[in-house]
Amino acid sequence: MTEHLGLVRRGWWILLLAAVGGAACALLVTGYMPVRYAAAVSLMVDQKGSADPLSQQRVKSYARLVTSRRVLREVAVAEHLDPATLDVRSEVVPGTVLLRAIVTDGDPERAARLANRIGGELSGLIHTLERRAAIGVTVIDRATPPADPVSPRPPVNVAAGILLGLVFAYGLLMLRSRLDTTISDGDDLAAAAGAPTLGVVGRDRRRPLVVTGARAEAFRALRTNLRFVGVDGGPRSLLVTSCGTGEGKSTLAINLAVAVAQTGRRVALVDADLRRPSLAGYLGLDTRSMGLTDVLAGSARVPEALQRRHDLDVLPSGRVPADPGELAGSPGMHRVLSELATDHDLVVVDAPPLLPVTDACLLATACDGVLLVARAGRTRRESLAQAVARLTRVDARLVGGVLNFAPVGLRSPYPEERARRTSFR
Ligand SMILES: Nc1ncnc2c1ncn2[C@@H]1O[C@H](COP(=O)(O)OP(=O)(O)OP(=O)(O)O)[C@@H](O)[C@H]1O
Ligand SMILES: [Mg+2]
Repeated sequence: MTEHLGLVRRGWWILLLAAVGGAACALLVTGYMPVRYAAAVSLMVDQKGSADPLSQQRVKSYARLVTSRRVLREVAVAEHLDPATLDVRSEVVPGTVLLRAIVTDGDPERAARLANRIGGELSGLIHTLERRAAIGVTVIDRATPPADPVSPRPPVNVAAGILLGLVFAYGLLMLRSRLDTTISDGDDLAAAAGAPTLGVVGRDRRRPLVVTGARAEAFRALRTNLRFVGVDGGPRSLLVTSCGTGEGKSTLAINLAVAVAQTGRRVALVDADLRRPSLAGYLGLDTRSMGLTDVLAGSARVPEALQRRHDLDVLPSGRVPADPGELAGSPGMHRVLSELATDHDLVVVDAPPLLPVTDACLLATACDGVLLVARAGRTRRESLAQAVARLTRVDARLVGGVLNFAPVGLRSPYPEERARRTSFR
């Protein structure tokens, strides 16, 4: 049920389009359908001078005579028509001796005329056939030209068009969801990463860098959840990485570091993405001063390279080196991170993505824990499995995942609640 609701919620605009398209097609088809009118004549079978009740079987056989070749031929000839083109049916009113002959035709006047002719032909025929049994058929209600056509019926056609459109679109949505292996909610992420989902950050169209107010709630929740996995308790280091590029690692690292710093703890934020460093740009750091690469090269000490922003000690990347991979796994990197960890309650390390390069895996060995960011609707389950396998190979500790760019469909102030309600797997 949740799956179906989720599909509807995600694909509501496809369903709406399909409904409108179905209705439009139905109207178009309706416009090309021939207009048909139905006229009916009612007849009563009666048995003069006999006490025996008429058998229903007999009435039924008279009804069958309505569409007999003999009756139809006579009627068609009188109207200069081909008997094969006549659309006539008969019915017996159940439990009575009444029968109806119904003629459907493109012309309402002719439909009524044909029906009345059939009535006359039938009573004449029965009169001849049943002279001895003294049975007659009398017209009790003559056919009149109908005002409204029986077909097409636009409301019925439009309803059918809408229904067909919806069924078709829903089938497409189901197919799409079966073929889609991207992460869509927190449960998905937890299952694919084999680790708890510690945070869900909604997609923010305004793309603010450091979020504040109610929006920062997602990061505060992540901060709290990290405490439960024992990362935010003592002087520890946490690597923030993801499978690919642009999944929100740097933004998350900054916001998480700010959220923890707001509780009064000393937090260091390190830009260890030596290939595409972004913290300096995001936080407006002085790019001419020393950074991580300078510390690693021995031309600066850690305290000299730190810059203060949002109550954080930020260590920018420094100049982009020729061998970022080697630096990431160097003993110097281990030393810098442990030095920062002794002076701070938490060291948040912004890393490159896991799958394209080995840097993040090497950095993970120098940190106490790894936080894996996944982008809703983009990160694939198989990529996550691959990333987790790489981390496991180097004995890194994956503390959990964070779902970024989560669809913020329902407004709940609690990210966990929102994540649960937007789960459409
Ligand atoms: N929750 C979000 N809602 C909307 N935009 C976001 C969100 N998180 C990140 N972004 C935007 O996505 C872009 C990429 O974010 P970010 O630089 O943090 O990703 P990254 O994973 O560090 O990328 P890279 O792999 O290049 O280092 C940025 O423009 C950022 O503002
Ligand atoms: Mg980044």
